[in-house]
Amino acid sequence: MPVLTIVGALWGDEGKGKVTDAVNEEADLIVKTNGGANAGTTYVVGDKQVILHLLPSGVLRKKRSLLAQNIVMRPELLCKELEEFNWDVDLGIDPRLHVTLPYHLALDYAREKAADIKAKGDNKTSGGAIGTTLSGIGPTYEQQKSRAGIRFCDLCGDETKLKAKVKSNYEYVKGIISQLGLEMVMPDRKIIEGKYIIEDVPLTLEQCEELAVESGKKLKKYMADVSSEVYDAVKAGKKVVLQGAQGTLLDIAFGNYPKVTSSDVRAPAVYTAVGIPAFPMKVVGIVKAYPTKVGSGPVVTCLDCQKWPVDESVSDPVAKLIRGRGKEFGATTGRARRVGWPDMVVLKYSQQLNGFTDIALTRFDLLCDINPLKVCTAYEIDGKTTDKYPGWDLDALARAKPVYTEIEGFPDISNVRKYEDLPSGAKKFVELIEKTTGAPVSIISVGPERNQTIFRDFKAFE
Ligand code: IMO
Ligand code: MG
Repeated sequence: MPVLTIVGALWGDEGKGKVTDAVNEEADLIVKTNGGANAGTTYVVGDKQVILHLLPSGVLRKKRSLLAQNIVMRPELLCKELEEFNWDVDLGIDPRLHVTLPYHLALDYAREKAADIKAKGDNKTSGGAIGTTLSGIGPTYEQQKSRAGIRFCDLCGDETKLKAKVKSNYEYVKGIISQLGLEMVMPDRKIIEGKYIIEDVPLTLEQCEELAVESGKKLKKYMADVSSEVYDAVKAGKKVVLQGAQGTLLDIAFGNYPKVTSSDVRAPAVYTAVGIPAFPMKVVGIVKAYPTKVGSGPVVTCLDCQKWPVDESVSDPVAKLIRGRGKEFGATTGRARRVGWPDMVVLKYSQQLNGFTDIALTRFDLLCDINPLKVCTAYEIDGKTTDKYPGWDLDALARAKPVYTEIEGFPDISNVRKYEDLPSGAKKFVELIEKTTGAPVSIISVGPERNQTIFRDFKAFE
């Protein structure tokens, strides 16, 4: 099959970068399909760590790399990433893609603030705030749907028309923010002495106009009809990787709404995201050995308390251990991620939504020396046991109690390179994932380096 899609099976941060980078080696074309600067994907190249927010991972292997229409793109951030590559990348940007401008960030920030203020007024410790990455994701997709958004072709088009659109959107957003009783300010994220701090930075219309006009001029040369380019490539038998961001449980429709992102994350959504017909494809689901979650929302097997942000002083020791080992702090925000025991109920749901043909199990080495390992195989909700995940019902998920099975722990596996050499507890874990999904676990990552990977008869494009 010439098309291979990478999808996060859980709540994001599954280690998609490493697997994408491995399959990119053989690919001709790499296409990013969804999300925007909310994703921060980490790659290890030699002894260097590279974090990309917007550029597709193909640029690391000097391959043709595309941004599909379903991406929301922050032009100034893309320019910054391009500068780091001396603008020397083979990049194509779909003209239909929507751009995120600073007022989208201001609106995202204002809504999260307003939700927090309301929660405090109601004497709740955690309220309606989603805990977004404050990257303007929701407001950009929202303007796409309301047909007021600015597309990449507008950004690179007539300056007078562009400025008029920026002005009208700026004023629209300002109106909403003032109704919330707040100011038009941007969030400036900082980590000072290990503390996550956000400062307000005022935002003017002139700043937005200048940013739009100047970045449009710089990025114009990358415009490409991604839909038709991918179609032609597949027809010509070229090897195409579709690189998804976020994770299935963050999907706008099938995730834990409203504690989700604003794009379609699931594998079948890539056809619309890119603009291609339903070509047969391989779907690799990235399953992190233990789930993590940034922001609020239910995680039934959570080892930390369900509250957000994480209070490390009341965290479970296993959660602390794994968070420390895995440096489970956001690449985009620096925030500590909540950690849970592996959950087969969620995985089964994710399989149902994506149809994974293969599973890549990541960060497996980080579960070593935890004995016994607990794996959730069912939920008890209101006295009834079920293995069906009620993804839409946050109240039911809050009441759900995990039913665990125990697996013997295993020692360090970071030097294992063949499946046969894994200890029996580790193999049992892999077998349970295969039984749950019906898909083979054909890639197992046992460390951050490119060579710390076990491939089991995995052929990326056959
Ligand atoms: P990658 O690609 C983990 C989460 C945010 C928040 C919710 C909505 O690195 O796996 P948004 O800013 O998208 O409006 O936030 O979604 N979120 C992610 N969590 N990994 C990601 O991406 C995420 N992208 C968004 O934390 O809870
Ligand atoms: Mg991430």
